[in-house]
Order: sequence, then C-alpha cells, then structure tokens
Amino acid sequence: MSQWPDTRLLDLLGIELPILQAPMAGSTGSAMAIAVSNAGGLGSLPCATLNLEQISAELHAFKQACNGPLNLNFFCHQPPEPDPARDAAWKQALKPYYAELGADFDAPTPVSNRAPFDDAPCSLVEAFKPAVVSFHFGLPEAGLLARVKATGAKVLSSATTVDEAIWLEQHGCDAIIAMGYEAGGHRGMFLSTDLNTQVGTLALVPQVVDAVSVPVIAAGGIGDHRGIVAALALGASGVQLGTAYLLCPEAKVSAAHRQALQTTKDSETALTNLFTGRPARGITTRIMRELGPISALAPRFPLAGGALMPLRAISEPNGSSDFSNLWSGQAARLARALPAGELTRSLAERALAQLRR
Ligand SMILES: Cc1cc2nc3c(=O)[nH]c(=O)nc-3n(C[C@H](O)[C@H](O)[C@H](O)COP(=O)(O)O)c2cc1C
Repeated sequence: MSQWPDTRLLDLLGIELPILQAPMAGSTGSAMAIAVSNAGGLGSLPCATLNLEQISAELHAFKQACNGPLNLNFFCHQPPEPDPARDAAWKQALKPYYAELGADFDAPTPVSNRAPFDDAPCSLVEAFKPAVVSFHFGLPEAGLLARVKATGAKVLSSATTVDEAIWLEQHGCDAIIAMGYEAGGHRGMFLSTDLNTQVGTLALVPQVVDAVSVPVIAAGGIGDHRGIVAALALGASGVQLGTAYLLCPEAKVSAAHRQALQTTKDSETALTNLFTGRPARGITTRIMRELGPISALAPRFPLAGGALMPLRAISEPNGSSDFSNLWSGQAARLARALPAGELTRSLAERALAQLRR
C-alpha cells in the first residue's frame, strides 16, 4: 500500500512518488528524465527547442535506460504573424548594445524558434506512446489532442488561474498543473495576457482543487520537502519541481547560470518578456534592469530572442550574463546540487517523514 495520503496521481500516471521533474526546455534532457523516472518519480523530456531527430534520439536514449513512464512536453502556441515594423523597433532599442559590443547591427537578425506542437511531433507521440504528454500555453487544436489521447497517453497542462484550470478540464486534461506566480520559466498563461491575473501557489492550488475534479499538481516555488508537504496539505495530489532540479549534474545549465542560481536571492528574479516575447521568470540580468523586464517593443513569442543572439554570442564566452536568460523560480536558494535520482528519493523520504510526524 502506498504511504502517500493521496494516490490518485500515482494511479493515473503509474508512478511511485508524487514528484514530477518539470520539463525545462534547453535545460534538461533524457539523462535527467531517466534518473527521475528510475527513482520512482515522473521524468520529463521537454521538446520545445528540439527538432524531430533530436527528440527521437532522446526517446531512444530513454527507452534504453528506463522502463518507467515518461512525460513528453510540448509548447502549443500559435506561431506569430510577421511584423517587420515591430522587429525593427526592437532591434533599434538594442542598437546601443550592438555598438558597445561591436556586434554587426546590419547583419540579418537570427531567428529564434520554439516549435509548436503540430502533425510531425504528434506522429512521434503516436509511434513512441509515452505514458504522459504535457503541454504549456493551453492545449493543441482538437484534432491533434484527439490523436494524442488515442495513444492512451495521459494529458497534462499548466493552469495559472482557476479559469484556465476549468478550461483545461473541460477540454480533456487528465490532471492539471497549478502553476503559481513563483515558478521559473515561461508562465503557462493562455486565457489572458494580463500579468495582474497571475496567482501565487498558496492561493492558486486550493482554489483549483475546489474547482476541478481531476488531480491537481502544484508547481511554483516548491524547493524542498517542506513545499511538497504544504502542497499536499492544500489538496494537491502531486508536485512539479523545476528550479530545484537545475543544480543537478544532469541539468544542461551553463556555469554562469549555475553560479547565479547558487547566489541569487528570493527577491532577485522577475517576469520578463525580453528573451522570447512571452513572460517568463528568470534571475534579473543587466538587460532586464536597463530596458525594464517587460517591454512593449519585444516581438511576439518566440521571436524576441533573435535580436539578442548576436549580443549573447559575444558576451557569454566572456562569462557575462548581461544579455542572457537565467530562468529561475523564486526558491532557487533551496536547490541542492545532488544527482537527480538521489534528489528525488531524498525529497520523497523527507516529505514522508514530515507527513508522519
Ligand atoms: C529553466 C526552466 C525551463 C522551463 N521550461 C519549461 C518547458 O519547456 N515546458 C514547460 O511546460 N514548463 C517549463 N518550465 C516551467 C516548469 O514546468 C515548472 O512549472 C516550474 O519550473 C515550476 O516552478 P519552480 O521552478 O519554482 O519549481 C520551465 C521552468 C524553468 C525553471
């Protein structure tokens, strides 16, 4: 018999521990997912920054090393309409930095991309049949979602408000990630673009639990066993931790990002749209301070990052994060530099010990 007070999520996803390693595009891959799923949690493979060959290779690596369940994660945004005037205005705002760094302002702007979920990745899901498929920014259109569900995969998505949670349940989600304001990375918001609508984890989780009948997974600011116990007390059936896994050796995080995570304070992150065009939480860097973390000039997701690429190409090799996105939630200081499997087991053991007290 399970020692956990609520087994709905464990039964639904086929996991032993109610701990999901957050998919973190660009920062985690199969190594992290293997370690977490082998430890009894749910490992996740973020696909938003991978092409089809890369996703296939990661799936193959996972299958070789783990029989446990896997969560394949996709972004499901609408690709933006071209807006050359906005792109030009954004690049103009960055011109002083191009001059300072000696970057070629007149060279064509690189294209920053995040692939939305469409027919080709859906075919991969049909072939691989992961236990879980999770989405960020809502859900894909009905035809694609029906194809995913026909594989037998359980479908998850992030809600940042009660309205979004209800919408996700009505549109077929099997469990809902209640993503509080504290969370690192992109806000999963999809019914509103107004940041004033965003809710902290402590307020969001119990209200989502009251509003939907599917299991709720708490995310945002959960950095150790205390956060897990608190989330379960609020009615969550499980938790999804992102920032807490970023110091693991399996994380693909630059030395500068790792260092920043270890030294940042609770008060040193902000929601910014400068790096992609959508609000995401990261450690405040120079460009966020100087342009303001939110700019009306930033091109629509995912295009804003293109004009920053030449600046990063010059600054990052010199150890500077002035123009870099250092995604992090508000609880980075709780993260421990342990191997991901060990971290997962330790989080579960400590949470269970506290629950038994
Ligand atoms: C570096 C980073 C990258 C992220 N990338 C994704 C992603 O690709 N897909 C996704 O669904 N969520 C992504 N998220 C959000 C996480 O799934 C999760 O909601 C969040 O990390 C929880 O908050 P915490 O960081 O305080 O634990 C990302 C978060 C971080 C920190």
